[in-house]
Amino acid sequence: MKTLTSPQVMQRQSRRWLREGRRVVLVPTMGALHEGHLSLIRRARKRAGEEGLVVVSIYVNPTQFNDPKDLKAYPRTLKADQQLCRAEGVDAVFAPETLYPEGASVEISENELALSLEGEHRPGHFAGVMTVVAKLFHLVQPTEAVFGEKDFQQAAVIRRMIRDLDFPVRLILGPTVRESDGLAMSSRNVRLKGRLREQAAVLPAALRLAKEFGDGPVANLKRRLKRLMEAQPDVSVDYIEVVDAESFRPVRKAMRGTRLLLAAQVGPVRLIDNTGL
Ligand code: PAF
Repeated sequence: MKTLTSPQVMQRQSRRWLREGRRVVLVPTMGALHEGHLSLIRRARKRAGEEGLVVVSIYVNPTQFNDPKDLKAYPRTLKADQQLCRAEGVDAVFAPETLYPEGASVEISENELALSLEGEHRPGHFAGVMTVVAKLFHLVQPTEAVFGEKDFQQAAVIRRMIRDLDFPVRLILGPTVRESDGLAMSSRNVRLKGRLREQAAVLPAALRLAKEFGDGPVANLKRRLKRLMEAQPDVSVDYIEVVDAESFRPVRKAMRGTRLLLAAQVGPVRLIDNTGL
């Protein structure tokens, strides 16, 4: 397994692969790899086949963090991540120190799907995500890229970027991997200690309740879920919303084809999750 740290070397390498007609599947990550990432890497390997190449990028992208404390606290575990990648048969890890030239002043924005939910609560977040993903696509030149369903809105925004900016990349979505109590795996979970970790289980409990709710009015559902979640002393809801899974417009009635997305602060850690209804 190669580790490349220079964007220019990465791009030269990917051009060589392209000339050789190799299929390249990218798994973009910010490191601190867990079982959820490994399932995306395994999916990438299936797509690439034995002849193709799996590239995992590891880069904690500063431009997508709207909270400097969150950026500082984000776990960085490159050595362990490299070992996990090697064990999964990854062909190359791309782990640049930075991806932004001094004085970088260009960013990509999306003006429909990215305005609500995470976009509203984390100003600048999606512009940071799209800009870095566009850069990764230029540098790695993948034929396919695998993203996790846990970041459901992120995947929708990137899919729109691929469509509108003609990236020759197919987006593959991998299902959310969960802990035994249902908590979605996330690199931020390591910061949930003791009672906070127990309280975090109320997020998947809220998703389960929502699925049982049936076709009722969204306003009632949101009230019930907020009450359930905020019964935990350290949980405070950022948003609970039910949207059309394509347009991300809020709907009044929960039904098939709609998706519930939520975000909550659990002590100092912000978590997100979602489910189809
Ligand atoms: O989902 C993530 O880990 C990040 O948002 C991504 C896609 C790697 C961009 O930094």
